[in-house]
Amino acid sequence: MLSRSALRTLTPSSRLFSSSAPRQTKVAVLGAGGGIGQPLSLLLKSDPLVTSLSLYDIRGAPGVAADVSHVDTGSEVNGYAADHLDEALQGAKVIVIPAGVPRKPGMTRDDLFNTNASIVRDLAAAVARVAPDANILVISNPVNSTVPIVAATLEKAGVFDPKRVFGVTTLDVVRAARFLAGISNASPNDTPVTVIGGHSGATIVPLLSQSSYGKGVTGDAYAALVNRIQFGGDEVVKAKDGAGSATLSMAYAGAKFANAVLRGLNGEKGVVTPTFVKSPLFADKGIDFFSSNVELGVNGVEKIHPIGQISAEEEKLLEACLPELKKNIEKGKAFVA
Ligand SMILES: NC(=O)c1ccc[n+]([C@@H]2O[C@H](COP(=O)([O-])OP(=O)(O)OC[C@H]3O[C@@H](n4cnc5c(N)ncnc54)[C@H](O)[C@@H]3O)[C@@H](O)[C@H]2O)c1
Repeated sequence: MLSRSALRTLTPSSRLFSSSAPRQTKVAVLGAGGGIGQPLSLLLKSDPLVTSLSLYDIRGAPGVAADVSHVDTGSEVNGYAADHLDEALQGAKVIVIPAGVPRKPGMTRDDLFNTNASIVRDLAAAVARVAPDANILVISNPVNSTVPIVAATLEKAGVFDPKRVFGVTTLDVVRAARFLAGISNASPNDTPVTVIGGHSGATIVPLLSQSSYGKGVTGDAYAALVNRIQFGGDEVVKAKDGAGSATLSMAYAGAKFANAVLRGLNGEKGVVTPTFVKSPLFADKGIDFFSSNVELGVNGVEKIHPIGQISAEEEKLLEACLPELKKNIEKGKAFVA
């Protein structure tokens, strides 16, 4: 049975943040000047669990920091320009990475690999040097490859702790709850959906059969809902018409996940949410990163939950997910090897 706090974590809340006893926690955002980075920095400034906010970008971070620093919450804010990465990382407990280029219409997340792989690798190398104990939350796409890149870079530096590297898949969870609420005429608070696998197209596997509202969705409506959860990002890319991909909903999702990590670090029990981590669940198939429900705690990953009972349709989705996910992970690893 799930504890009350676990249920609270799984439930899309009308409040973005919940907090327990505050302690000193410095959070760094790498890519803070971007479409995601700016609203994410603002939301983190509003999180009572963040006591110090360190904003870094190769462009524009000091300006974003000056702006955000006027918000009347307790945390101090500092901005760092391109040649001050090490200072930005000093003492950071949580490092969120939305640095890199976003998609344009017609692009897959994998099309971003060539640019973003080296950005993420170089940032991870700096984290390994300056803040080797930090928890790293990777937003930059393709997440299925960038998380293995971060892990392999830390491993090379001899500081990889699998409990502290997370791919942020929260936007898929947020979308699933919102889209299911829309067709169920319910509140998103009542329609949480566990989403497993990875973060792109067919690798995104929503477990609607485990949701009380979701299991009632069948036939064409089921197929349409699954498709929308898997390819919801394309709706935004298309609507923005060349101006980028999801930034505001992603900032919301990133801040929500960061808050979950911070609550876990603060000792709150029962904080459970899907995230893409080094995982034993499909390691026997050569897939050593996978998103499933993960309990967060004082050490980062506390417990990786099994996927539980799934329907025949979900078995098929998983079958389609695994080979693609494996390819994406191997591509990331090969980049650092
Ligand atoms: N995980 C998800 O669910 C999800 C959702 C949406 C977008 N994304 C990804 O997030 C990334 C950022 O998207 P965006 O819309 O904010 O893009 P953006 O272009 O608006 O912002 C990216 C920022 O990264 C900065 N940057 C580039 N190289 C850097 C470096 N070496 N160090 C520090 N900063 C650097 C840029 O200067 C820019 O300010 C993209 O890769 C996008 O695909 C992920």
